[in-house]
Amino acid sequence: MARSHNFSAGPTALPIEVLQQAHEEFFDFAGSGMSVMEISHRSELFLRVASEAEQDLRAILDIPARYRVLFLQGGAAMQFSQVPMNLLRGKTADYLHTGHWSGKAIEAARRHGAVRVAASGQAFGFDRIPDASEWRLDPAAAYLHYTENETAHGVQFPAAPQAAVPLVCDACSSLLSKPLDVARHGLIYAAAQKNIGAAGVTVVIVDEALLVEPPPATPDILNYARLAQAGSMLNTPATFSWYLAGLTLKWIRRSGGVAALYRANQAKADRLYQAIDDSGGFYRNRVRKPYRSINNVPFTLGDAELERRFLGEADAAGLKGLQGYSAVGGARASLYNAVPPAAVEALIAFMDDFQRRRG
Ligand SMILES: Cc1ncc(COP(=O)(O)O)c(C=O)c1O
Repeated sequence: MARSHNFSAGPTALPIEVLQQAHEEFFDFAGSGMSVMEISHRSELFLRVASEAEQDLRAILDIPARYRVLFLQGGAAMQFSQVPMNLLRGKTADYLHTGHWSGKAIEAARRHGAVRVAASGQAFGFDRIPDASEWRLDPAAAYLHYTENETAHGVQFPAAPQAAVPLVCDACSSLLSKPLDVARHGLIYAAAQKNIGAAGVTVVIVDEALLVEPPPATPDILNYARLAQAGSMLNTPATFSWYLAGLTLKWIRRSGGVAALYRANQAKADRLYQAIDDSGGFYRNRVRKPYRSINNVPFTLGDAELERRFLGEADAAGLKGLQGYSAVGGARASLYNAVPPAAVEALIAFMDDFQRRRG
């Protein structure tokens, strides 16, 4: 079987063991004579899948008992609205604007109430997280929202922000790839298609203290309190994606958990940044070193024609998904949990060769 090296920002590579298990169980799940896609979400068999996924996630992230874990639909983008709908409650919210995705979260939240941008990296072209000493935080805010890893700009928080109000984290592209102290947060969300599994399911980890009734016009399926009460099953959940997330979570536990994956992810990112920095300016990453993302490594090659050739030749050589985010341009290598070190070595070898031929 020829597998490509997959550097896509998401959906992206899944662990081969997960794909193999899903393949083996595809037609007959747990002796039921049916695919997991064909059984009721209310069946004992599926309820076991759902509950094991939650227990595995709780164990991996050491989630305190006071948090509820939800498996929702609508992607991380839906959380951009669901968070303010449930948590604003007539107050204002503080947002840290650190790149494309936090910009999207701010835009969506503004439709639901007053939003303050407590700090923005826009003036620096998002090459860093603004220093905490410059943040203008409102001690009466309903919450402080930050995007732990900016998938498009490749900027990451070196540490979670300090906040006197509930901290809300978009951890879409970094959850389970590095340690995260759940107890410091009010709410964490992440869509599955980067480090957790396949697209279709979004994990929300929320402190029970925040589960109060939102305004009456809020639809039940966007109401965290009701969703938590119903075990994320107010309506039919994305059963297959939930199942795949469950398999991936078991793989994470077998792989030594987040601490081991973090070490491997750091090593992969270090190798690639080093290769970029050692290229004499042929490849460039403009993010300041302390804020460079271990998940997404954007880089440019100086001119658009060279970039086009680079991406075309890389794709032909089996290095897939290296196109940068549409609004940012350039190239980008995403190095999520299931991307093996060998893929990074293959990319670096290709980059060296391309520079020798075209530099
Ligand atoms: C940091 C971040 N937040 C939110 C999203 C939106 O996720 P979704 O496409 O699941 O709505 C993405 C998608 O790449 C992302 O990287």
